[in-house]
Amino acid sequence: MPIALITTYPFGDRNGFPLEMLEANGVDYRLNLLNRKLTEDELIGMVTNVGVIIAGTEPITAKVMESAPNLKHISRVGVGLDNVDLVAAEKRGIKVSYTPDAPAPAVAELTIGLMLSLLRNIHVANSAMHQGKWNRYFGRRIAEVTIGVIGVGRIGARVLRRTQGFGTPRLLVNDVLPTLELNREFKLEWVSKDIIFRQADMISLHVPLTLKTKDLVGVKELGMMKPDAFLINTSRGGVVDEKALYHALKENKIAGAAIDVFEKEPYQGPLAELGNCLLTSHMGSMSLDCRTRMEIEATEEAIRFLLGKPLLSPVPKEEYDLQREFGSSSES
Ligand code: 8YV
Repeated sequence: MPIALITTYPFGDRNGFPLEMLEANGVDYRLNLLNRKLTEDELIGMVTNVGVIIAGTEPITAKVMESAPNLKHISRVGVGLDNVDLVAAEKRGIKVSYTPDAPAPAVAELTIGLMLSLLRNIHVANSAMHQGKWNRYFGRRIAEVTIGVIGVGRIGARVLRRTQGFGTPRLLVNDVLPTLELNREFKLEWVSKDIIFRQADMISLHVPLTLKTKDLVGVKELGMMKPDAFLINTSRGGVVDEKALYHALKENKIAGAAIDVFEKEPYQGPLAELGNCLLTSHMGSMSLDCRTRMEIEATEEAIRFLLGKPLLSPVPKEEYDLQREFGSSSES
């Protein structure tokens, strides 16, 4: 049976079931022992004999595929596909599957946590107290602010639903394909992105990374935001221009930001110098339940493929079309 390379990490760490499933089905697997996102070159060095990749967010480019003559299936542990060159995979007859629903509840909850922290200065008070300083910070409640969500898919819709419990008065939303059925659940204002940038107090991004959404938030958009507004990005690095964000935060052009995803991960960069920038380490999906579900679903897909059974969650045609139109932004 072909070798399965597990590039995502951690894997089988808190719940060993995915590894047990591979073993029970006689799958010969290799883990990512570097415990971080692999680069394109590292992947090229690992894929020569590999038939299946159980993948994270590392760049699975045409070059990687060229170095993997036996590769037949990429099983993404997660929803984002910007790191997989789908067009190259299709050309080579490599099947790609993903776990689109599993991460959503955890990412939505992290987003709510970041909103609360930004609004009440939880992260600011925490670092002050760790430096021996006692300050009592004013803040705002979620019910006092206008929330703007760009990208109302699986995750964005869940974020909106969760804000309902806090009594948010105004929800401004934008999506290339508005899901108007959501208006039956609660009151949404479908507006342009510019209106969101100008009017929202809390802007949360939930779009995939494509060449169209690259630098969606840059100098111009940050310049439109109110000086007391906040930005949250739990979607993908690259959607926010990090350099522009650094300057906007440093010069207090906006009140703060919470960033979970970065252009290059692991992140080492100047945003870490800024007290008004709350940083987390691409951990949106890392609740025990969601991460376990993602790993199990992706492993089941890999086993199904290896046993010659049909895939349950193949990447839909629209995702291929999107990359055909806007290209793949996979980068190392
Ligand atoms: C990572 C994510 O995929 O779902 C996504 O697209 O960004 C994350 O959930 C995951 O952590 C890597 O396996």
